[in-house]
Amino acid sequence: MATKKFFLTLFILVFITAAVLGVTGCGQKASQDAGSSQVEQQDTVDKIKKAGKLVIGTSADYPPFEFHQVTGGKDEIVGFDIDIAKAIAKELGVDLEIKDMAFESIIPAVLSKTVDLGIAGFTITEERLKSVNFSDPYIDGGQQIITYKGSGVKSKEDLNGKTIGVQLGTTGEEIAKKIEGAKLKQFDKVGAAVLDLMNKRVEAVIVDLPVAQAFVTNNPDKLELAGEPLDDAAKAVVIRKEDQKLLDVVNKVIKDLKDSGEYDRLVKEWFVDYKPAS
Ligand code: ARG
Repeated sequence: MATKKFFLTLFILVFITAAVLGVTGCGQKASQDAGSSQVEQQDTVDKIKKAGKLVIGTSADYPPFEFHQVTGGKDEIVGFDIDIAKAIAKELGVDLEIKDMAFESIIPAVLSKTVDLGIAGFTITEERLKSVNFSDPYIDGGQQIITYKGSGVKSKEDLNGKTIGVQLGTTGEEIAKKIEGAKLKQFDKVGAAVLDLMNKRVEAVIVDLPVAQAFVTNNPDKLELAGEPLDDAAKAVVIRKEDQKLLDVVNKVIKDLKDSGEYDRLVKEWFVDYKPAS
């Protein structure tokens, strides 16, 4: 009788143990499967819509592409790029969040998914294409030398033996590196480079032409353009290589803006008629 009871208890114990292990085992497997397929399915476009916001990385030191403007006592980041970002957010039906950072941190932020897109007057380059993708180009433009009045700098040849202020990680920095005999001083933010130029601590700064024009227009007594643009390059939105669906959305927005005439209006507002605030 006692033996029978013992075996019955043992049987029940083994059964329960097996059942518990089996269930938890299965349960774990099932949840693992669900987890991994969720990761695969979690497309960035879906993620953005679920979060209700598109997060972009920019370096808001680059008028008229992106810059800080105080309107009604409120500091805002505005510009041509920001209007494109707003159009992308609108297409996705979400809010726009702007993260302002050093230009050289933007591509790493895109890669680490800290931001969804990089929009900062990015020139399409072979080097960048190794790690990220670009949208269709949304504007062209070249890099331009700015100098201070009386520096004697009229072209890149005059920069031999001189110091050029450059923003870290930009094509302007790459161009400056190739200018014979020139020394480089690197900056995180363009404003700091231009300040050094106005204080004659560097003889030149290299930035995109519309940006050069904006700084010169703001400081006509101190600054001037030197020579012609040094390259001609297309600018586009930076996107992770795997985000094909988001790329399609961005390209559709660029196309729609162009087709509707809104693009021409934005170009006129920010590049043709743009008067920098003094
Ligand atoms: N077009 C240049 C580049 O792609 C400079 C861009 C700098 N942008 C900025 N927001 N500071 O390297």
